[in-house]
Amino acid sequence: MTAAEPAPEEFGAGYWEQRYRHHHGTSRPHAPSPQLVAEVAALEPGTALDAGCGEGADARWLAARGWRVTAVDVAATALHRAQQHALASDDPAAAERIDWQQADLLHWTPEHRFDLVTSQYVHLPGPRETFFRRLAAAVAPGGTLLIVGHDPADRHTAAQGPGADAYVTAEDIAAVLDPGTWDVLVAETRTRTVTGPDGSGAELCDAVLRARRREG
Ligand SMILES: C[S@@+](CC[C@H](N)C(=O)[O-])C[C@H]1O[C@@H](n2cnc3c(N)ncnc32)[C@H](O)[C@@H]1O
Repeated sequence: MTAAEPAPEEFGAGYWEQRYRHHHGTSRPHAPSPQLVAEVAALEPGTALDAGCGEGADARWLAARGWRVTAVDVAATALHRAQQHALASDDPAAAERIDWQQADLLHWTPEHRFDLVTSQYVHLPGPRETFFRRLAAAVAPGGTLLIVGHDPADRHTAAQGPGADAYVTAEDIAAVLDPGTWDVLVAETRTRTVTGPDGSGAELCDAVLRARRREG
């Protein structure tokens, strides 16, 4: 961006594209989310949507376990890197199980519903409840919704956090789910350890919501 260009809307498509062009959008381009691993490792593989897949580490982890993954992100640079990582992996069969799609999740409508919808640390402009409802709508009967965000307990670690008020509690996420349709299985704050560019470790707090859509 030159000095003459206006700054893109925070968390809009231009913001994310610029972020990936200037550096990695995630601190873990190759390692899956520890919350994804903890919540999904025991599930039977089926179809999965990775909503806001970034550089694709979660999608690749799911595909390596037999999931057929639709991995969606608005940022072309992130998707390009994700595809390159998948092609470079030593598991070409897993790479073929991933369908990478560039789309804005606030407008994109899937062709079918998924056995698993996972979204990790995705911040968008506008009311996040709209986004959570769209994710929930994409889950098939009997399927799993997993949403992980930055817990407000992390506000004090601004250097590691999203840099604006994009924090959410698991209870905030659960509040959009109709109790007549969903069983909330996990709604909690959980810690994870990240390593900064200088090698130092820091403990961060995640909001973790896992719910199951009832059959029928
Ligand atoms: C903080 S990154 C997290 C990436 C990945 N889920 C991870 O955990 O490493 C947020 C991601 O959401 C994507 N994103 C943000 N808004 C989006 C939108 N409206 N539609 C699709 N993707 C979006 C960004 O491009 C970015 O890759």
